Amino acid sequence: MKVLVKNQLIERDEAKVDVEDRGYQFGDGVYEVIRMYNGQFFTYDEHIERLYASAAKIDLVIPYSKPELRALVDSLMKANNIGTGNVYLQITRGEQSPRNHVIPSTPPEAVLTASASEVPRDTTLFENGRKAILEEDVRWLRCDIKSLNLLGNSIAKNKAHQAGAFEAILHRGENVTEGSAANAYMIKDGKLMTHASNNLILEGITRQIILRVAEENGIPVVESGFTLTDLAAADEVFISSTTIEVTPIVEIDGKVVGDGKRGPITKKLHDAFTKEIMQQCGELAVN
Ligand code: PDD
Repeated sequence: MKVLVKNQLIERDEAKVDVEDRGYQFGDGVYEVIRMYNGQFFTYDEHIERLYASAAKIDLVIPYSKPELRALVDSLMKANNIGTGNVYLQITRGEQSPRNHVIPSTPPEAVLTASASEVPRDTTLFENGRKAILEEDVRWLRCDIKSLNLLGNSIAKNKAHQAGAFEAILHRGENVTEGSAANAYMIKDGKLMTHASNNLILEGITRQIILRVAEENGIPVVESGFTLTDLAAADEVFISSTTIEVTPIVEIDGKVVGDGKRGPITKKLHDAFTKEIMQQCGELAVN
């Protein structure tokens, strides 16, 4: 397997990163996960825009132009012969010795690392849905930055896993924010409800498409969020991300959502989302 370290494509077991990279010591960096179908990137530009925007929010300068980065990512996917899979890329602020919370006034060289893996579409996710638990959202207040600090997310997701569920739906008090690694939505009386895009959630690229296709399909969108009480009375619930597309949530904390199956609006949105993928990446097996 080949990986990217800075601007070099190398064998994974030859890759080296510094022990005093601020990415390790402070989680000081940003990342993206981009999906590829049939050897074509899906929403590549949107992810790269968000990567540069996340970096700018922490005053991290990405040492590559967008075309340079594209050439590097293309070479990574080609070298690993990815057809349908994911690329993970991160950029840390780089090496600082000795360790110091204060960011050096002359910034170190930012360190790009990236890996790619073949991951087929799991249509059972979309058709059968998954279970979720509820967890208090204890993350920091800049969830709009796709930063490497994922401890709050990871601990919540792990609690879900230990409970036999797939995802943790997070809430700050009464207000539902998002999933630990996905955006969260509910449907009530034909309306699609989700948290506003602000500092409390990551504005998902998948979310942007879902909200657009909802409007195109005449499904009213309410972006003012919803509460735990609303959620308990939802007709349908689903989550979305680059890797899980539109995944229905059929049970929350042991309580069945709706009739326990993927709901009709969730299916309609996923069908429309699948069309978007096919427009950019070619035919997919229909689910
Ligand atoms: N996570 N919210 C959070 C907290 C996320 O981690 C993600 C994605 C999303 C959805 O964003 P998008 O639709 O752009 O993938 C929302 C990625 C997939 C991950 O960390 O693996």
